[in-house]
Amino acid sequence: MAPVPCLATPTFTHLDDVQELRKAQPTMVPDRYVRDMGERPTLATGPTSMQIPVIDMWKLAHGTQEQSQREISKLAAACEEWGFFQVVNHGIETQMLESIEKVAMEFFMLPLEEKDKYPMAPGTIQGYGHAFIFSEDQKLDWCNMLALGVEPPFIRNPKLWPTKPAKFSETLERYSMKIRNLCQELLRYIAKSLGLKQGTFNKMFGAAVQAARMNYYPPCSRPDLVLGLSPHSDGSALTVLQQDNGSVGLQILKDGTWVPVHPIPNALVVNIGDTIEVLTNGKYQSVEHRAVTNKDKSRLSVVTFYAPSYEIELGPLPEFIDENRPCMYGRYNHGEYSQHYTTNKLQGKKSLDFAKIPTKVSS
Ligand code: OGA
Ligand code: NI
Repeated sequence: MAPVPCLATPTFTHLDDVQELRKAQPTMVPDRYVRDMGERPTLATGPTSMQIPVIDMWKLAHGTQEQSQREISKLAAACEEWGFFQVVNHGIETQMLESIEKVAMEFFMLPLEEKDKYPMAPGTIQGYGHAFIFSEDQKLDWCNMLALGVEPPFIRNPKLWPTKPAKFSETLERYSMKIRNLCQELLRYIAKSLGLKQGTFNKMFGAAVQAARMNYYPPCSRPDLVLGLSPHSDGSALTVLQQDNGSVGLQILKDGTWVPVHPIPNALVVNIGDTIEVLTNGKYQSVEHRAVTNKDKSRLSVVTFYAPSYEIELGPLPEFIDENRPCMYGRYNHGEYSQHYTTNKLQGKKSLDFAKIPTKVSS
């Protein structure tokens, strides 16, 4: 009997690994990476003076009452108007930031055979490979990715934690603990900025789920044709992104324009994820973002997703529902949302449709 082609399990070849492709054919951009016209990154990205807000964690936590209050107001405006901000003076040592970048980079520089020991199985999102690809005709991102579940321990797949470089696991472990504390601290201030009790989110989230994703974007001879990472919002409550200082690639969609996020040395980029959008009934929204590539420079990002425990039921908090802001989202279980998010391709803010209450069409 002739084998039946299985469309649900896309196949990848050696040349679907962008680093290998670059090595073999530096100027080649296969069709599978070439975006349709409407998706290609336009080079005009708005006035360069547009910058996401910068929040000083030290002022929030240790400043005078006046400084702290001012910073809370800045945080509120950042969350409401941008959904993205950079944090400085966050208390995570530079050495820690450097060491996670070092082990991540060392991992990506290993031969493909070594990295392929940690394959991302089709339909899963942990390991080395292509996440969110569900069909042969879906475009691929110009990116190599290693994704790992970190906390709570049951989401870990220890077989996928690289043994090379030797310090990888230990470094990711220590880094993740620091970022976890930072997320909890940020959630306290975000709650405060919304007029909620500081512990509201941390208490509600239970044993929070934390995952790490390392993205390596090799240079591309035609950055105008490809995307490093497709536009999406994050399915988390909060995301913390560390990017190398060497190149710009992250862009966020602000009032219809793609605004680049310029690296600030030792700062971390934080964004509001879908969970906070639902809980605040859209007061603080998750913002669509993407990554573009550079012609001559590679780029590395280390991303942490922080989300509620899977069994938690979510829905807009009553504080954010009134006659001016009717309830826009239903109640659902975060595990179901997470399942929905990871089994659909990245497509702007489409995954939030899962949580939205359908609006009635008036006849
Ligand atoms: C992500 C993400 C952007 C980047 O991993 O969710 O948005 O610059 N990454 O790597
Ligand atoms: Ni993202």
